[in-house]
Amino acid sequence: MLNEFRALFMKHTVVTRNHLTPELALRLITSASPLWSSPAENSPFVDPYWAFYWPGGQAVARYILDNAEAVLHRNVLDIGCGCGAGAIAAALKEAKLVVANDIDIYAVEATRMNADLNKIVNIQTSTNNYIGTKCEQFDTILIGDMFYDEEFGQYLFNWLSEMTRHRKTILIGDPGRHGLTDARRRQMALLATYQLTNETRRENHGFSQTTVWRLKE
Ligand SMILES: C[S@@+](CC[C@H](N)C(=O)[O-])C[C@H]1O[C@@H](n2cnc3c(N)ncnc32)[C@H](O)[C@@H]1O
Repeated sequence: MLNEFRALFMKHTVVTRNHLTPELALRLITSASPLWSSPAENSPFVDPYWAFYWPGGQAVARYILDNAEAVLHRNVLDIGCGCGAGAIAAALKEAKLVVANDIDIYAVEATRMNADLNKIVNIQTSTNNYIGTKCEQFDTILIGDMFYDEEFGQYLFNWLSEMTRHRKTILIGDPGRHGLTDARRRQMALLATYQLTNETRRENHGFSQTTVWRLKE
């Protein structure tokens, strides 16, 4: 199954640096990929979230690359890793432990392949569902673009708030999705704002910038 996925991944994605972290080469489906303009039924993938580099994930990875102290010697869990950029950035900036996590096994595989592409070996992967668990192994949690749904957003935010009470650092990347309500933003400190590339703007209609937040204790 994974061998077949790897072959399809290589066939249908292209290597791109046209995003906020050009230090990282990532295999993605972009407007240069034939699949981009094909009817959905021609796609061999079901909901390939991992094939896109979401604005929220771009913000978290950019922040880490510019602020290595955010992850240096820390135990980092990238939840909903998608293409893996947040985890790859953390590994590059010498986190002690990096686990790239996604409940989609293909996202985890895409992450492994993107890590290889960037010659990064110190990343572990997991398909566990960590949300709602104690995450005792970790002191830093990365969340890239996971507030796209109100109900899930509430569940996720409540759990992340609980995690801050256990002294974990929570970094959230988000371009302004409705799940990150004003009430929730008031419980966070804004760390950085980035302007999206034209390519990412085209892929994410209506968004021109993206932000990184730290959840307050
Ligand atoms: C919008 S994508 C963001 C991907 C990546 N963080 C980025 O910003 O490019 C959300 C990802 O979260 C994953 N996901 C959803 N629920 C999850 C859960 N409970 N645990 C881990 N990953 C989850 C999805 O499979 C998907 O890959």
